[in-house]
Amino acid sequence: MADNRKVMRVLNGETVYPPPVWLMRQAGRYLPEYRETRKQAGGFLDLCYSPDLATEVTLQPIRRYGFDAAILFSDILVIPDALDRDVRFEEGRGPLMTPIDAGGIAGLDGSKLLTHLAPVLETVSRLRSVLPEETTLLGFCGAPWTVATYMIAGHGTPDQAPARLFAYREPEAFSALLDLLADLSADYLCAQIEAGADAVQIFDSWAGVLGETEFEQFCIRPVRKIIDRVRQRHPQARIIAFAKGAGSLLADYRQKTGADAIGLDWSVPLSFARQLQDQGPVQGNLDPMRVVAGGRALDEGIDAILAALGQGPLIFNLGHGITPQADPDHVAHLVERIRAA
Ligand code: CP3
Repeated sequence: MADNRKVMRVLNGETVYPPPVWLMRQAGRYLPEYRETRKQAGGFLDLCYSPDLATEVTLQPIRRYGFDAAILFSDILVIPDALDRDVRFEEGRGPLMTPIDAGGIAGLDGSKLLTHLAPVLETVSRLRSVLPEETTLLGFCGAPWTVATYMIAGHGTPDQAPARLFAYREPEAFSALLDLLADLSADYLCAQIEAGADAVQIFDSWAGVLGETEFEQFCIRPVRKIIDRVRQRHPQARIIAFAKGAGSLLADYRQKTGADAIGLDWSVPLSFARQLQDQGPVQGNLDPMRVVAGGRALDEGIDAILAALGQGPLIFNLGHGITPQADPDHVAHLVERIRAA
């Protein structure tokens, strides 16, 4: 029987039109019901580790918009949290943790990973049992480079200068960190698949700050390692890799990492996206600011993507996460416009 999960069909290489749609960060602060549940939870990590509340916020955008995929509600920084890196989320400041050094890297102990993340895995299995059958459930993790940038700086930065500097000064410690994160991320993704995730996405949100050689070593190599390890246990696993800002380096990213689909940010020209789609499925790439603006800006952005990429395997998405200023009605309009195409 044909798979009724449209996102899975596209990940298997089929063209589905109108394309399936979901949005990165679709559960989040632009939704009043999210802000309400978030208040109940107390801290952000408490929300991530509460199967009841994390299931609820994952379902909120599905109920409202009927997206074709639900993405597990959690965060990429639960891995450093499982490594006892003192992760905090402070109102208005984003994530914070104690910056790690070479000695700290040597002392990392990943043995508690899956016991620490058991509540997140419980959320995955609850979600698969309550979601409509046709809704694809996506698990995810951060790519080693992106997770490492936060572990090294201890906070968000505009250009990840602390991690770039550390990588040049301490190449051995840095490479050990990427290796450990790749191993743990693979185990974590396998556990999500075993708990019921239909497919997974690897977020390399900071790929765009690296030169060519570093992109090869810090982004492609560890992501390839994750994908190889996941496929050893789950040969059929479907994997989306999103390397934000990688530009022309995306030309052979799919082939070099082994990802099934590649995520595109809004700076990727649609003509180039079209070439990337000749190699397989693509996901993206509407500028999240068009969803804030609404009106013509939103319609024209949607139409351009459908015109350029609608004839091949496409999962419609934003080029990065939806922002807190987005108007929930604009999101409803986006979904209607795509479905009416
Ligand atoms: O997409 C979804 O709806 C699923 C949940 C999800 C979150 N974070 C929830 C979240 C996912 C997939 C992520 C991934 C993530 N987290 C990334 C990669 C993707 C990206 O956006 O670049 C990164 C770099 C992080 C790290 C992180 N978490 C940052 C930098 C911040 C602070 C920035 C902000 O938006 O506040 C977070 C916090 C966070 N993660 C929030 C949400 C909904 C907001 C926190 C809150 O509700 O107070």
